[in-house]
Amino acid sequence: MIWIKALHVIFMVTWFAGLFYLPRLFVYHADCSDETSHARFLVMERKLFAIMTIGAVLTAVFGVWMLFAYAWSAHRELLWLDLKLLLVAALVGFHVYCGILVGEFRNGTAHHSHVFYRWINEFPALLLVAIVLLAVVKPF
Ligand code: HEM
Repeated sequence: MIWIKALHVIFMVTWFAGLFYLPRLFVYHADCSDETSHARFLVMERKLFAIMTIGAVLTAVFGVWMLFAYAWSAHRELLWLDLKLLLVAALVGFHVYCGILVGEFRNGTAHHSHVFYRWINEFPALLLVAIVLLAVVKPF
């Protein structure tokens, strides 16, 4: 099971690489004015979103694997696991929202300023701290 946990953490890191970098691409994209840069950002966003979605799916696959193999029964009485899964659901919501924003740029309907994209960048960082503290420290 230790191998499954290792794979879970490895794919979680690949997922977060995308969750951190995609909103940065949105910041630069919102600021760009020439057609060549616009086309290049569209390709970068599409490919990054595809890669981070693979990271998300594999993180979930190995997480659910551990959940059914032992964790659900072993930690049944503890609150941290339920709380962690709740925060993971929020993270998935953010991931889906990033996909919507990629679509807005592609369709030419993106309407937020670069400041907005800068701010949403903080959300996955806060969730990362909270989820890792819950999973590793298991405070309650
Ligand atoms: C569908 C999503 C997820 C599920 C079902 C899931 C489930 C689990 C389970 C059952 C464990 C083993 C817990 C234990 O035995 O101590 C675990 C470990 C871990 N998870 Fe997740 N997880 C998910 C997503 C995430 C995410 C998004 C992160 C990071 C932000 C994360 C970070 C970790 C870490 C760092 C560990 C190792 C904890 C340790 O052993 O010290 N997980 N996960």
